[in-house]
Amino acid sequence: MFKIGLLGLGVVGTGTAEIIQSEGRHPLLKEIAIQRVGVKNLTKPRQIQFPPGVMTTDLEAIATDPELDIVVELIGGLEPARSLILKAITAGKHVVTANKAVIARYGDEIFAAANAAGVYVLFEAAVGGGIPVIKPLKQSLGVNRITSVIGIVNGTTNYILTQMATAGADFAAVLARAQELGYAEADPTADVDGLDAADKIAILTSLAFQGRVKREEVHCEGIRQVSAADINYAQKLGFGIKLLAISQKTNPKADTLQVRVHPTLVPKEHPLANIHGVNNAILVEGEPLGQVMFFGPGAGAGPTASAVVADILNIVGILVSGGKTKQLDPLLSCSHQHYCTVTPIAELETGFYARFLVRDVPGVIGDLGTSFGKYDVSLSSVVQIGQHDELAEIVVVTHQVREGNFRQALEEIRDLKAIASIPSILRVL
Ligand code: HSE
Repeated sequence: MFKIGLLGLGVVGTGTAEIIQSEGRHPLLKEIAIQRVGVKNLTKPRQIQFPPGVMTTDLEAIATDPELDIVVELIGGLEPARSLILKAITAGKHVVTANKAVIARYGDEIFAAANAAGVYVLFEAAVGGGIPVIKPLKQSLGVNRITSVIGIVNGTTNYILTQMATAGADFAAVLARAQELGYAEADPTADVDGLDAADKIAILTSLAFQGRVKREEVHCEGIRQVSAADINYAQKLGFGIKLLAISQKTNPKADTLQVRVHPTLVPKEHPLANIHGVNNAILVEGEPLGQVMFFGPGAGAGPTASAVVADILNIVGILVSGGKTKQLDPLLSCSHQHYCTVTPIAELETGFYARFLVRDVPGVIGDLGTSFGKYDVSLSSVVQIGQHDELAEIVVVTHQVREGNFRQALEEIRDLKAIASIPSILRVL
């Protein structure tokens, strides 16, 4: 019997314990038992019960308990999660975690320690909730030369953008409603500012492009500035707006990448434009594979616990067949040595959508075109959409341009007399 120590008994911890304690799901479940459960508060009412003595508030004692084989970290956040994971590794325990923030920021330290200790650290639940994507990237797609990974990897923001599109409501109203319904956290920062998605794309990039990524090099913009007006105009132009997490090779011959998270206009016929609500999807493109898309529930107790228990069973399967060994399976461990070279956002080549409020005077569209032309920004469409008080609303969509050039053109345009304001600038996929 292999003994599990569970750190955290929140939504995912409870879901994980319920699966482990249920019967008839998988033969290997008979080989494991939850020996210790670490929580903050012993008196809080729980929907799952354990025999006396199993639950404790001493999380460190679980991380270092010599009787345990696997420590499952489900408390989230950076500390004490990172320290507990490192302590468990040093104590010779395999680790399963759903903690994208820790893996994205401290992967280097954690996997170096795990390799030295000869233990596995598995994290399928850290990206895409119940969607199997970590193991497929490591194993099933391992021989492909990946050229891009593009994902909707945050369910909360996808729910908010979907509601804004269907109800025509503004961001603040939809966020408040999502919090009432329990879809969005009381502190929604990590989700709505794109930080959660940036952690996830750092992890996916590392697996797809086989090198570590410095989390601070991931360009990150959230959805607070997306307005119902932009969603409406984008729809009229044939686009949906999605918070995309993107990593892609900038040049097929060079080892350089663009890694970024930002709201993006996605053509309606693109598969990611049709991912709605709290669902996630990850589109991977590579050679010789072509495109493959992973789709499903990106959060929630059941889906995330399904991924956590899958990782536990992967480790148990190895322990059952080979016993404890310092020789790690390279298809399950992580031994990246180098860092990917991430290029600055100014060098990105992309399309842009920009909305301008202008004084309705002769020549204003010509002035816009002249300034864009000066910086090599080619326009795909210019539409005067409506009138606000004395101001006309003009929406511009560009062809692929260098971001640095587009920004320089905007600086010049801001100073034009006819320009009252530039309420939105969004990238186009
Ligand atoms: N908060 C995340 C989301 C789920 O909304 O997708 C956990 O990764």
